[in-house]
This record gives sequence, structure tokens and C-alpha cells, in this order.
Amino acid sequence: MATTNDASPQTSRGWVQGKVVERIDWNPRLFSLKVSADTDPFVAGQFGKLALEQQGERVQRAYSFVNPPEQDTLEFLAVTVEEGELSPRLQDLSPGDEVMVATRPNGFLTLDEVPAGRELWMFATGTAVGPFLSILQSEDCWERYETFVLVYAVRHSDDLAYLPLIEALLAKHPQQLRFVPIVSRDDDPNALKGRIPELLKSGVIQQRADVPIAPARSQTMICGNPEMIRDTVEVLEEMGLRKNLRRTPGQITVEKYW
Ligand SMILES: Cc1cc2nc3c(=O)[nH]c(=O)nc-3n(C[C@H](O)[C@H](O)[C@H](O)COP(=O)(O)OP(=O)(O)OC[C@H]3O[C@@H](n4cnc5c(N)ncnc54)[C@H](O)[C@@H]3O)c2cc1C
Ligand SMILES: NC(=O)c1ccc[n+]([C@@H]2O[C@H](COP(=O)([O-])OP(=O)(O)OC[C@H]3O[C@@H](n4cnc5c(N)ncnc54)[C@H](OP(=O)(O)O)[C@@H]3O)[C@@H](O)[C@H]2O)c1
Repeated sequence: MATTNDASPQTSRGWVQGKVVERIDWNPRLFSLKVSADTDPFVAGQFGKLALEQQGERVQRAYSFVNPPEQDTLEFLAVTVEEGELSPRLQDLSPGDEVMVATRPNGFLTLDEVPAGRELWMFATGTAVGPFLSILQSEDCWERYETFVLVYAVRHSDDLAYLPLIEALLAKHPQQLRFVPIVSRDDDPNALKGRIPELLKSGVIQQRADVPIAPARSQTMICGNPEMIRDTVEVLEEMGLRKNLRRTPGQITVEKYW
């Protein structure tokens, strides 16, 4: 039997044994795992599944790919949930250790699912910056929108992972990419302070990005904490944006992490 938080059902395509090639410790509770595994190709923004055996039971959880599809080594960003079943054990893994990886990727937080627009907003809390970094590193992303705004909200300054990568993307795409870091529990001179929904409602995020939000021009992707997603959707709906559904395309595409 497997314990799972599947966002969509695991088909029977199975699992492969992956090998950890690197672990990056961003802080004592936040880490990235680079894993070599022979899995099916994924689309930037999708997630895979990692699993470990525990007393004869497979404990599996979903993790978004951080690497772009063009890179062979899989990369995942994870926070250690103290009482969690899998994340503390993933944090204990070292290069050379084995971890099971589902062969088949999943998920709809991909650019193919998002209608055209002038600007693409990407709102993330915590580890949910991962799928957006995969998208922003992918080869075909930059011709799709004029401007990309990455809004990345964390509790503490040292929870802001991948800043060197984000800096490199900003340097490579100075006209097209804007970055709005938000730190809720520290005073960080480089970041806004607060939470995404309130900072959107007051217009502070739009001001920092120097980009307005309106249904005729904006597309938004929101990922991470489900309460943040609920409250952010509410604020965006007050601005006239609508959920993006396959039957009724709109401007708000979401993926909840729990
Ligand atoms: C589609 C999808 C993609 C995901 N991608 C990632 C990812 O890239 N990185 C990642 O760390 N997790 C991700 N998760 C969450 C991940 O699957 C696990 O739930 C998480 O690692 C905790 O597992 P656990 O067994 O230790 O605790 P669980 O028993 O699964 O979780 C316990 C509680 O921890 C909290 N929690 C879970 N995940 C997070 C998180 N990421 N940030 C803050 N609080 C959390 C929630 O309150 C949850 O109820 C994703 C989940 C889904 C559904
Ligand atoms: N990050 C840490 O310091 C820390 C320390 C120990 C353990 N952990 C573990 O990590 C997990 C939390 O991870 P995390 O900090 O990456 O994720 P998180 O709790 O989702 O917080 C990430 C960001 O989302 C914000 N947020 C939370 N709820 C929101 C809402 N309803 N609306 C808008 N914004 C909201 C937080 O603001 P607020 O700060 O205002 O909530 C924070 O800025 C916990 O389950 C815990 O097990 C984390």
C-alpha cells in the first residue's frame, strides 16, 4: 500500500529507481535534490513524484520539477515539514542515495494551458517557486508574453531560494522579466513585506513590478499555499479576472500544494 497526496491519480506506468546526485541546503529546513532517473519527458511547470520505502510501505509525494525539460538531471525544491512523513526523510538523502521517481509527470500548471496575454504573472509561496523557475528556464517561454512577473513570497529572507538563478534570468532578460520578492516575517530591504493578497489589493505589487493588472492584458498563474491561492483568486476576481478553465478560458490558472 502507498500513502499519497496525489493531485491526480497515478497511472500504472510505474516507478524507477533514481540516484541523488546533489543536495543543496538553502537553510536548515529548505533544500533542493538533484536526481538522476530515467523518467518520461515532462513539460515545464509539471510535477513528478518521489517515494521512499518505509516499513514495507511506499510513501510517495508530489514535487514540481525546477529544472527545465531540456536538462536531464531532475531537480526538486522541498521544505521540511517537521511532522511530515516524507519530507524529513528526503532531507536526509545524500549524493549516491537512491530515491524512487514516478516515471510519468503530471500537472497542468504549464504555458500550454494559459491563454495569450500581454503579461504573465507568476505568484508563488515557498517551494512553489519551483515550477515557475522551470518555465522561465525553458527554451520556448520567452516569445509567449511581452513581460513575465515572478512574485515569490516566503516567511524569512533565507527562505528565498535560487536567488542567483533569478538574478541570472533577470540579467539575461532585462526587458522581459520583473521580480517581486516578498518576505512576511523579516524586515528585508530588498523585498516587500506582507502577503500576496493584501499587497495585490493595495496595488503595491503592481507598483513594484511597474505593471498593471487587467483582464484584457493579464494572465496569472498561482501556486503553493491553498489559502494564499483562495485569497489571491478572490482579489484578482475583484479586478475582473476569471478562473481559466478548459471550457471557459480565463486569466487565473492555479495549482495547490496541499
Ligand atoms: C501538485 C503538487 C506539487 C508539489 N510540489 C512540491 C514541491 O515542489 N516542493 C515541496 O516541498 N512540496 C511540494 N508539494 C507538497 C509535497 O507533495 C508534500 O506534501 C510535502 O513535501 C510534505 O510531505 P510530508 O509527507 O513530509 O508531509 P505531508 O503529510 O504531506 O504534509 C503535511 C502538511 O505540511 C504542509 N506542507 C506540505 N507541503 C508544503 C510545502 N511545499 N510548503 C509548505 N508547507 C507544506 C501542509 O500543511 C500539509 O498539510 C507538492 C504537492 C502537490 C499536490
Ligand atoms: N519557513 C519557516 O520558517 C519554517 C520553519 C519551520 C518549519 N517550517 C515548515 O515549513 C512549512 C511552511 O513552509 P513555508 O514557510 O515554505 O510555507 P508557508 O507557510 O506557505 O509560507 C510561505 C509564505 O506564504 C504566506 N502565507 C501563508 N498563508 C497565507 C495566506 N493565507 N495568504 C497569503 N499568504 C500566505 C506566508 O506568510 P505568513 O508568514 O504571514 O504566514 C509566507 O510568506 C510548515 O508546514 C513547517 O512545517 C517552516
